[in-house]
Amino acid sequence: MSSQHYLVLHGPNLNLLGERVVNVYGHASLAQVNSLIQKTAIELGVGVQIVQSNHEGALIDAIHDARSWAAGIVINPGAYTHTSVALRDALIAVQLPAVEVHLSNIYNREQFRQVSMVAAACVGQIAGFGANGYCLALRALVHNKKAATQKDVPTS
Ligand code: DQA
Repeated sequence: MSSQHYLVLHGPNLNLLGERVVNVYGHASLAQVNSLIQKTAIELGVGVQIVQSNHEGALIDAIHDARSWAAGIVINPGAYTHTSVALRDALIAVQLPAVEVHLSNIYNREQFRQVSMVAAACVGQIAGFGANGYCLALRALVHNKKAATQKDVPTS
């Protein structure tokens, strides 16, 4: 795969989008969210590989695997956001730019959701914009990469 591909990771319980706490997470199913992400990727001219897992180790394996092909990672770690030192370590280990996404605004919810173990391993965080958050995150990664590439080109 070329360097123009991005990994999009959905953590635990996000397979139940559209039926789970819809007043917080919205009515869109995971398939609908994924097709929104695919549309944005096409618009941006990049590829995405989208993975959902309810298992911490599988998410870590996907992050490790991304080392060999991805230009960056969009990750909604679900509840692992608040607990997983292992996910944080994996993101730091692979040294790929990552953006943390939450459908809900975790900062106006329960106190335990207001702490993110992975935030410090990411270049930024987008929370509270529903499914659009994934698209915003992908745009941010792609534009950051373009800006970095342009900076490397000598001006004279
Ligand atoms: C979530 C927020 C988490 O606190 C929660 O455990 C989730 C979803 C979000 O997208 O808003 O599963 O990551």
